[in-house]
Amino acid sequence: MVQDVTDKLQTFRRVLVTGGAGFIGSHFVRLLLAAGISEIRVLDKLTYAGNLANLADVLSAPAVTFIQGDIADPEAVAAAMAECDAVVHFAAETHVDRAILEPAPFIQTNVLGTQVLLNAALAYHVRRFVHVSTDEVYGEVLVGAVNEAAPLRPRNPYAASKAAADLLALSYYASYGLPVVVTRGANTYGPYQHPEKLIPLAITNVLEGKPVPIYGDGLQERDWLFVTDHCRAIAFALADGQPGQIYNIGAGNHRPNREVVRAILRLLHCSDEWITYVTDRPGHDRRYAVDPQALMALGWRPTVSFEEGLRQTVAWYQQRRDWWEPMKQGEFAAYAARNYGSRQRMG
Ligand code: NAD
Ligand code: DAU
Repeated sequence: MVQDVTDKLQTFRRVLVTGGAGFIGSHFVRLLLAAGISEIRVLDKLTYAGNLANLADVLSAPAVTFIQGDIADPEAVAAAMAECDAVVHFAAETHVDRAILEPAPFIQTNVLGTQVLLNAALAYHVRRFVHVSTDEVYGEVLVGAVNEAAPLRPRNPYAASKAAADLLALSYYASYGLPVVVTRGANTYGPYQHPEKLIPLAITNVLEGKPVPIYGDGLQERDWLFVTDHCRAIAFALADGQPGQIYNIGAGNHRPNREVVRAILRLLHCSDEWITYVTDRPGHDRRYAVDPQALMALGWRPTVSFEEGLRQTVAWYQQRRDWWEPMKQGEFAAYAARNYGSRQRMG
């Protein structure tokens, strides 16, 4: 049975959402607003990945306050967190290809920024600190699925920075009793995702008449989790997660990248000829797979099938060229030239 978590969130009055102008964070702000949380503070630096347009439909709500600031800045964090009873921490550098090109911002934000937040959360005695992490910290899982006790084997600087942050967060529970809960989510997709990531990149490239680059043989597998299901999972962890515990979030929608891109091409009435195979990502993890039993024991279930989620996502990008077209210019164009420019076409 799918349980509604909304009622359980009522015990929180003032919630700080870091990275709430990004992809998943902005959906989570909508979830909190729909749940009737009386004060939702969004702290976001508005990096290339942050976009106030992601919050356009909720920014005028009296419950929502937006604060532009860096999670690594103790003063900005102290001002934003004052009197909050919960923190849900999404803010991060999130793109693996960028981490491989330039790791330093990943350490600065994902590790040092997390530590600044943890210190402030201790000082303000927050009742719950949800650290939003990723299945990438386990590294490749070639068969089966791992539970939360599996060793951490991150294989790229992004995953390593998230693993470091997870361990820091858990150490604040063990050393100081901070009520930390860590979530480790699978590959998430849906509206408002930055076009640097595979699914929106493929959709928007086709809409622009450009080929879709697939790294290596395209047989790498990810478990695709629709963004609203990921947000509901985080809400369960916020409401009912045990302090000091980790909760994997997986949807059981494993697909090779090649199949994901082909499904997008079919939805856009295009043939496989739009695919260009290019040099693989260095250290490319072949497969991720997590077992979400611990979270399911709290009542969470994924509700959106991959076919339905992908259909909704493709339709959204078709309708919202106003949102993504500006994002594919300027900063993104320079990054794309660096990332894709160095890759050879493979056959
Ligand atoms: P995103 O890149 O879309 O958004 C990140 C947000 O963080 C942006 O709004 C950005 O401006 C903000 N930010 C970055 N550095 C900051 C700083 N120093 N101070 C304040 N704000 C800063 O990210 P996303 O895909 O929504 O991911 C959100 C979280 O979920 C991340 O912690 C990520 O590791 C985790 N996660 C993502 C996925 C996924 O597939 N997208 C899966 C599992 C976990
Ligand atoms: O697993 C959770 C992680 O999923 C999150 O923690 C990360 O923040 C998020 O970016 C995502 O990481 P991935 O590296 O799996 O996502 P990305 O969309 O970059 O790539 C998905 C797969 O597609 C991966 O195997 C690499 C491949 N790919 C990606 C791009 C951008 C391509 O083949 N071509 C591309 O152009």
